[in-house]
Amino acid sequence: MEKTVKIGLLGCGNVGAALVELVRERGDEIASRTGLRLVVDRVAVRSLSKERQVDLPTDVLTTDAQSVVTDPSVDLVVEVIGGIEPARELIVDALKSGKPVVTANKELLANVGAELYAVAETAGVDLLFEAAVAGGIPLIRPLRESLVGEDVSRVMGIVNGTTNYILTKMTEEGWSYAEALAEAQSLGYAERDPTADVEGFDAGAKAAIIATIAFGAKVVAGDVYHEGISGVTSTDIAHARRMGFQIKLLAIAERFDDGSVAVRVHPAMVPDHHPLASVRDSFNAVFVEGDAVGDLMFYGRGAGGFPTASAVLGDVVDAAANLAKGTHASLGSFTKGAIRPVDDLASAFYVNLEVADRPGVLAAVAGVFGEHGVSIRSMEQEAMDADAAGAPAGTGGAARLIFITHAAREADLRATLHQLRSLDAVRSVGSVLRVIGQG
Ligand code: NDP
Ligand code: HSE
Repeated sequence: MEKTVKIGLLGCGNVGAALVELVRERGDEIASRTGLRLVVDRVAVRSLSKERQVDLPTDVLTTDAQSVVTDPSVDLVVEVIGGIEPARELIVDALKSGKPVVTANKELLANVGAELYAVAETAGVDLLFEAAVAGGIPLIRPLRESLVGEDVSRVMGIVNGTTNYILTKMTEEGWSYAEALAEAQSLGYAERDPTADVEGFDAGAKAAIIATIAFGAKVVAGDVYHEGISGVTSTDIAHARRMGFQIKLLAIAERFDDGSVAVRVHPAMVPDHHPLASVRDSFNAVFVEGDAVGDLMFYGRGAGGFPTASAVLGDVVDAAANLAKGTHASLGSFTKGAIRPVDDLASAFYVNLEVADRPGVLAAVAGVFGEHGVSIRSMEQEAMDADAAGAPAGTGGAARLIFITHAAREADLRATLHQLRSLDAVRSVGSVLRVIGQG
């Protein structure tokens, strides 16, 4: 006997519309495999006059999201509006009235997740959010269930599809940053305000959720150090390519032996031979390092309506099955551990300087690195325009110095840059990028 489960859908944009279509396409198969007949019963949107990517009967649509949550015929709520409010209030109300909730809202979970998990636990219903991290890739469930017994020390990867798409197009097709961002928006990858993507807030929110689930530690968006890709130039990309690297926006969550946790998001140079270097377009990939299991890699589409809706649908089926059995998944408890400041972390760095091309400059610059305990791994010098324009090399033109360091403390590198800026011979400190995976 089939059991009908009526879904109240909050939001019908890229993800919501794809979910409606998937439920229609996959409904019979899901019913025959699980005995659950999913029906999208009510749909809340902001504007009734907007053209939709799916056809919906007019009596299903409403602009009153609260009425969807409180409708007694709705069994389960899917929130794909985004943002903090009204999503938070709607989710809390749904959970308190005993309705399981599935959400793709990483911003919300990374800011007030603990409050929502507690409400779900008290109400004894599911709050599932596979789609909130890395789009269609199953990552949260493996971390929460399969790896719950693991001592996970590090999770690192590419978790924002928009920025990976932009960097791929700039690298491979020579597109401008603006062109690539516009295309990512039209493909439905970007957040409503794409600043969240390009400045690293979206990846930061995902990294906070990953750290919370992987380490059982309370980590919120404000604990994450983040830098975006808006400062990455075509010149940086060209230098990186020439030196055998790809530039990627990485999210890195680490737990140290003293129990402290560090979570950061920043662009990094990844060697061509590293598996993350070949993750292109809107694809995401995440490495998980566990004590017993060793290294795991998760890979797939990290953004876009259908991949994300696929993850939402998986959660919907799970939550509906639990509801039918009168059970729910428990996230367990999270402790608030110490957050290790970024200054105390270590990375190798790429440092690009414009200097006066005259005797003694290289020695002076190298001396500053040495003074702060930053060891240089390699250095390249390029003549710049002033020399090309006619001045004999080494007689007053400009040169570009490109350094790759060995692993150095962030605070030491910062002090090095500060002193370099004050050197007479240093005309400008250009891009500074972290470098990973050099062995
Ligand atoms: P969209 O902007 O495409 O859709 C948002 C939907 O919410 C729209 O249908 C909008 O209505 C509706 N809405 C906004 N405010 C209200 C409100 N107050 N009441 C009722 N409805 C409202 O966003 P996406 O579908 O791209 O993303 C949705 C969520 O999924 C976000 O949390 C996002 O971060 C997350 N996500 C998105 C991914 C993606 O690739 N796009 C991937 C993973 C997660 P209207 O259509 O009338 O404007
Ligand atoms: N804007 C997000 C991204 C959507 O580009 O990754 C998926 O979470």
